[in-house]
Amino acid sequence: MCGIVGYIGYRDAYPIVIKGLHRLEYRGYDSAGVALIDKDIKVYKKAGKVSDLEEFAKGVNLHGTIGMGHTRWATHGAPSDRNSHPHSSGDRRLTIIHNGIIENYAVIKETLLAKGHIFLSDTDTEVLIHLVEDIQKETGLDLREAVRVALNKVVGAYAIVIMSSDDPDQLIAARKGSPLVIGVGEGEYFIASDATPIVEYTKNVIYLNDNEIAYIRRNDLLIKNIDNTVQTPYIHELDLKLEMLEKGGYDHFMLKEIYEQPRSIRDCMRGRIYPKIGKVQLGGIKEYTEKLKNVDRIIIVACGTSWHAGLVGEYLIEEYARVPVEVEYASEFRYRNPIITEKDLVIAISQSGETADTMAAIELAKEKGATIFGVCNVVGASIPRITHAGVYTHAGPEIGVASTKAFTAQVTVLTLIAFYIAQQRGTITQSKLIELLTELNEIPELVEKALGSNEHVQQIAEKFKDSRNCLFLGRGSSFPVALEGALKLKEISYIHAEGYPAAEMKHGPIALIDEEMPVVFIATKHSSYEKVISNIQEVKARKGKVIAIVTEGDTDVKAMADYVVEIPQTDEAFVPLLATIPLQLISYHIAVMRGCNVDQPRNLAKSVTVE
Ligand code: F6R
Repeated sequence: MCGIVGYIGYRDAYPIVIKGLHRLEYRGYDSAGVALIDKDIKVYKKAGKVSDLEEFAKGVNLHGTIGMGHTRWATHGAPSDRNSHPHSSGDRRLTIIHNGIIENYAVIKETLLAKGHIFLSDTDTEVLIHLVEDIQKETGLDLREAVRVALNKVVGAYAIVIMSSDDPDQLIAARKGSPLVIGVGEGEYFIASDATPIVEYTKNVIYLNDNEIAYIRRNDLLIKNIDNTVQTPYIHELDLKLEMLEKGGYDHFMLKEIYEQPRSIRDCMRGRIYPKIGKVQLGGIKEYTEKLKNVDRIIIVACGTSWHAGLVGEYLIEEYARVPVEVEYASEFRYRNPIITEKDLVIAISQSGETADTMAAIELAKEKGATIFGVCNVVGASIPRITHAGVYTHAGPEIGVASTKAFTAQVTVLTLIAFYIAQQRGTITQSKLIELLTELNEIPELVEKALGSNEHVQQIAEKFKDSRNCLFLGRGSSFPVALEGALKLKEISYIHAEGYPAAEMKHGPIALIDEEMPVVFIATKHSSYEKVISNIQEVKARKGKVIAIVTEGDTDVKAMADYVVEIPQTDEAFVPLLATIPLQLISYHIAVMRGCNVDQPRNLAKSVTVE
């Protein structure tokens, strides 16, 4: 939530900062701003997208080789010009950009107001920069020390960058709970919320850790922790290509990412499955083989789409590894007093690896002695660094705010984890594993085939684009697929949609059904096929409009449903990977037809770093 970019070096900072903000716009897009130092600090900010800021800043002096920028997802204070970042101190010497929440800002603000500070915005961020100014005024400390003292006084999460007109050859960056990456160039440094604004300039990056402050000059970088101890940073080499961050000829990132799924699922399995000998190898968790053999219970924690993937994981792990699994919303789990023991294994799933609630759930489970695995997409993000072990999904950068390829990659990893644990515990025979892995290996081609329904799905979308509500129903592991289908539709097209287990329909949602109501069924030819057919009949008897996702060649459902979309035949274990595809496409097309901003739906941000 909120994207921040900074640059100090020998080039013009503005183009670097603006390009970086475009890359980070997925993190928030209700207002944007930049600050540049050219003798003194100049700040330009505007409600709206980064492109509105660019328009606003046309024709003004944008020179300066030190600069920073921010794209906002509002927490404190409505999206407006005055609440946009950067924010300045009362004397205008200091300027800050911030991602996160200062939880005790109200108390600090009260004290500062009593001392005569005047605030120009409703934000917690402005309070922080006034606090630094106040500390300097009261104590005479230099900026570095004043920032450190101020950060010791605040409660909450932050990634910040500060610049000062008193010392125009320095940027100060700090993090606690919100990500910050420093790109290391020759005579220049880059700062950003993730590596995407940095990759075209340097592959060398430092992931700042919590409670670290970086003091950055053109030719000098010093990192200390908040207690003033000097830290030795580790320089990572980025494995990220520029073309991964472009639309590549597609109208939207979401469509590109939907079409990338055959590749992303293949990448996710590469080097991990050996179908001929029936073996799964997961290097990231292999040290925990003994633990897996004896594990009593697995708790999966996640939010949103990742939570849906967790529900699919529950079916697979229980089916094949025979270990009880509980799937928890991270936000609920962290505020209960959950019973967790050292025997438990917690699997935290997160595309971004930065979700605040998931991180807090991990910390809680860790305190109670559980072993924690991460299933993350963004390499080097916070979650993979606080878990004991993990498996990356390797889907590549996901830029569309609505998660698509990350979901299928998460489901793929969880499938591999289920088979891996089953293999260790001896709950699956070698021949069954050979059979399943052989079929799993074919899934990328079958996903490709499922994508072939795009035009047909587009025609169906045309019929339902003006619907006000929609139900998604499925049984077994198709129930989480139904939940995911409903989430996609509501988040990008703003149509109210609900996902339900098909059998639950009779316990309430059936009351909603009339001739206006589209009901999407996942009705593939597997264990609950006959039961789902009965549910379809119940909907048809009430004049509902049925769109069914069926196994190719199906005739029974075809005879009943208003519209069908075929997906290739596969083992029941892999249905979620295929059935998800038409649901993603239908939401995409409906959103486009309704004129919605598919990649940046209203009120959302890709990375939810506030609770
Ligand atoms: C929906 C979506 C969100 C995320 C959720 C968790 O399309 O993207 O529901 O799944 O915010 O995010 P991560 O996986 O980054 O922890």
